[in-house]
Amino acid sequence: TCTRDREDQTPGVNVLVTAGPTREPIDPVRYLSNRSSGKMGYAIAHAFAHEGHRVLLISGPTSQPIPDHVDYLPVTTAEEMHQAVSRHIARMDIAIFAAAVADYTPAHVEPQKIKKTGARLTLELVRTRDILGSAREPFGFTGTLVGFAAETENLEQNARHKLSSKNCDLIVANDVSQPGTGFDSDRNEVILVYPDRSVALPADDKVHLANHLAEAILELAAGKAD
Ligand code: CTP
Ligand code: CA
Repeated sequence: TCTRDREDQTPGVNVLVTAGPTREPIDPVRYLSNRSSGKMGYAIAHAFAHEGHRVLLISGPTSQPIPDHVDYLPVTTAEEMHQAVSRHIARMDIAIFAAAVADYTPAHVEPQKIKKTGARLTLELVRTRDILGSAREPFGFTGTLVGFAAETENLEQNARHKLSSKNCDLIVANDVSQPGTGFDSDRNEVILVYPDRSVALPADDKVHLANHLAEAILELAAGKAD
């Protein structure tokens, strides 16, 4: 599934990026998902690859073109994304979790298409595993760890909680309640939440914002290496 191998090229760092939504099957023709377009994650993957870094993009289903010079690993479900990340994260210097991973998945996948009846239908859902929350433990990742936080209220406070609970070096917090930014949009307005400070960035095109983020993350990684 990998489109290109930059393993032998130097210098540059190894970067893992998760992107897009996941799809959780209900029956052979239906699934649960979310409105993530994958744009932010793909733009970040592109930004690092463009600077000559080695990028592995682990992505749920999107309609984004695969960026040039990026190793691409497509997945569908949260569980598949979890397995793909667990397999590859150890050799990474930087891991960026931009995917909108389902928090719940159907307890059972019906083997046949569910037929409608006159009665109500209740779907039973169970929790998926937290991939970003597994990066430090049990995956043992010691590199620069960046998460996203999609919030509709208490943006900075919720993001800061995720920063510490998932042991990240940075959380990119975006308010997904505003129409025209965040999910399923070309623009994004984010707050960078670091352990010791927060930096609010002006609303920006996702491609432009991705270049800025890549720079900020490389700076973080350089600081960690000192
Ligand atoms: N994430 C993940 N695996 C999951 C859920 C989330 O890797 N099963 C990652 C996302 O990619 C993102 C970060 O965790 O980088 C935060 O995702 P978000 O949905 O904002 O937070 P949750 O921890 O799922 O909490 P909640 O949705 O309840 O706010
Ligand atoms: Ca979530």
